[in-house]
Amino acid sequence: METNQNTRDGRNQSLWQKNTTPTADQTPFNPSKTYDVLVVGAGITGLTTALLLQKAGLQCVVADAHNLGYGTTGGTTAHINTFADTTYAEVESAFSKDAARQFAESIAESVELIHELVETYQIDCDFEWKNGYVYSQNEQETKELDDILDSSIRAGVEVRVTNQVPVTVEYQKAIVFDRQAQFHPLKYILGLQSQFSNLGGVVLEDTFIQDVKTEEGVHIASAGSAQIRTKAIVYATHIPPGGINVLHFRNAPYRSYVIAATLTYDAYPDGLVYDMQEPYHYFRTHVIDGQKYLVAGGHDHKTGHGDPQQSFEDLISFTKQCYPVKEVVTQWSAQYYVPADGLPYIGKLPGAPDGIYTATGFNGNGMILGTVSAMVLSDLILQGESEYKSLYDPARIKPIAGFTEIIKENADVVARFVGDRLGLEEIESVSQLPEDSGEIVEYDGQKLAIYKDPHGNIQALDPVCTHAKCIVHWNNSEKSWDCPCHGARFDTDGTVLTGPARENLTRIEANIPTNQ
Ligand code: FES
Repeated sequence: METNQNTRDGRNQSLWQKNTTPTADQTPFNPSKTYDVLVVGAGITGLTTALLLQKAGLQCVVADAHNLGYGTTGGTTAHINTFADTTYAEVESAFSKDAARQFAESIAESVELIHELVETYQIDCDFEWKNGYVYSQNEQETKELDDILDSSIRAGVEVRVTNQVPVTVEYQKAIVFDRQAQFHPLKYILGLQSQFSNLGGVVLEDTFIQDVKTEEGVHIASAGSAQIRTKAIVYATHIPPGGINVLHFRNAPYRSYVIAATLTYDAYPDGLVYDMQEPYHYFRTHVIDGQKYLVAGGHDHKTGHGDPQQSFEDLISFTKQCYPVKEVVTQWSAQYYVPADGLPYIGKLPGAPDGIYTATGFNGNGMILGTVSAMVLSDLILQGESEYKSLYDPARIKPIAGFTEIIKENADVVARFVGDRLGLEEIESVSQLPEDSGEIVEYDGQKLAIYKDPHGNIQALDPVCTHAKCIVHWNNSEKSWDCPCHGARFDTDGTVLTGPARENLTRIEANIPTNQ
């Protein structure tokens, strides 16, 4: 494994990238061997799954197109909760009371599994037990809070009313969940990877799986000229990559915004704190190199919609109303997928050959639901069964009314741009574009994605997403082209940053400095 610095799928650095470098443990890859499991994606889902399987005696390979934690695990706020964005009341209503109890049980098991792995392997990842506080600020929110309280109790979760929330704003009612936790997500997954490697597991970074063929029960995954032979594949890529899959239409991509700030005095919250606004905000404290940071998140919106810079400004201004902010040290955003019926999809990938699995639709609860996925997938692979198999079955059909509209309204699908060269006249007309920014422009009814770099050079791309032909949108904060349909993201030169797309955006020849 290479020891490159951890990077992320955007220009902004997350707090977790500060002073964190991957370990250099290596187990050599054997191209002629048929491995038991190839796990695609080295975030919390992939590495936990791989560790559980390797520990059980299977021979596994983890392949990531970039580096460990490159995707959402490197940009999470790392809250470990016994409640989720989909409330137990919502699960009761969309599924059943039993389903809500099962959802709660699987979440509780995942919290304990994280703690057990930290303890067993002595992973130095700043793991701490914390209380989790949710508070309401008006009648409507209090009604919803009561719903959360009652349904959580029915689902068997420990929660009670409190009047002590570590926040300076006024609130009407508050509840507290015991035995929540927090950790440093990159340090945690680096610890998982280290144990996985010690057990003989293979980690391949910079390995982009572009194609998978199945021959006589063996899957052959290609990454450039390299091939990995395996009996099973787990796509731990946040959304399954490649061709259009039914899951791409049952999950809507969202962006969430985060800042890390220092405060003028020690008002850092001792706990995990959530309000109930729409969109909601969440806060916690993390200490890095002896310095306390307030980690505040929120102002989420659908990928490719909204204005990322504005979201940061709104988040900063809101945080200042709640805490005495001295300095915003860093800010970043991350992506998550909202599932159609509220529950994640974990199990066999619909429409794929036997032995191919996926896990997606974690909402904003990637740490716990990524770990739930590892529990479920490792059981399915090792025993062919999991007590949660039906609950999380990716082939279930249970769309919630209105969700189809969320997907449909993203679908800005157009005819493919056929030209491959951008003329001087067009370049002239984008010379007003600010440096280090992008824009979708239209010439003769055909759209182009234009980016001007800090030196004034123009990079033009066909803005038609290579996954299913939606038009990408400019992300003015992470400096990327984001697809509103299923969340694929591309660098300014068209390179895939995150799936489901496997092909880069087509480049249009136009690398001519505008100042010439
Ligand atoms: Fe599916 Fe772009 S991610 S069309």
